[in-house]
Amino acid sequence: MKVVTTIEQVRQQVKAWRQAGCSVGLVPTMGYLHEGHQSLMSAAKKDNQKVIVTIFVNPIQFGPSEDLASYPRDLERDKIACEQMGVDLIFCPSASEMYDANFNSYVDVNDLTDALCGKRRLGHFKGVCTVVTKLFNITQPDRAYFGQKDAQQLAVIKRMVDDLNFNVDIIGCPIVREADGLAKSSRNSYLSEVERAAAVCLYQAIECAKDQIKQGEKSVATITQAMHNVIAKQSLAKIDYIEFVDLTTLKAVDSLEQDSLCALAVYIGKTRLIDNFIYQHSGR
Ligand code: PAF
Repeated sequence: MKVVTTIEQVRQQVKAWRQAGCSVGLVPTMGYLHEGHQSLMSAAKKDNQKVIVTIFVNPIQFGPSEDLASYPRDLERDKIACEQMGVDLIFCPSASEMYDANFNSYVDVNDLTDALCGKRRLGHFKGVCTVVTKLFNITQPDRAYFGQKDAQQLAVIKRMVDDLNFNVDIIGCPIVREADGLAKSSRNSYLSEVERAAAVCLYQAIECAKDQIKQGEKSVATITQAMHNVIAKQSLAKIDYIEFVDLTTLKAVDSLEQDSLCALAVYIGKTRLIDNFIYQHSGR
């Protein structure tokens, strides 16, 4: 496995692979890798002859009051996680390699970014789309892998790829969970022991919603209230949002009459966690 820090090194490696007729899969990450990231690498490994993992804590997707400075980083540990999965190349650039002093071009997807996290984290998806565009241009992958945990990110990137005719297939991969149901996330490392125990309430709220749906409940207000009640039992939890939106447009829905995404963001202490599930409408 090679570890490189410059765009030129990536280009040279990808060129050599292309000349040898190899397909390339990309797993973009911000590092502090866990089993969720490894499941993306595993999917990339199955579909492609060569796999690139990028590790870059992208400054332009963090708001001024967000956790850029404290975002967890451990490159040595990440290298081991990638090596275990048979990754071929890690690209871990500096911020100045990605954004030179004159940098001034952004990619902004409208509409889909007005909902859910985009509504609360202004400019976040503009930062994500810009860096993902750059990573696509640098690595020229056949396929790129993103986790379903960041459901809005996945939807926005798919939209961007369609709108701007990127020649890359976007593959969404299922959420990977801890034994008690908490979705794996690099930000889980911020949680103290008591906070970690409380954090399971996101999953419990999802399970509660699924139970209600199984019993035939269609009213989003009723289901959302039940989810609020589950989370309210945890004194360390503060809900940012719980919303049901149309799976394609991400517009709010009142009643479950179409494929929908239920997404939630909850602060556990100071740590903001997200989770979601997809409701597939049977049409009955
Ligand atoms: O999901 C992430 O880790 C990041 O948003 C991404 C896609 C690597 C862009 O920085």
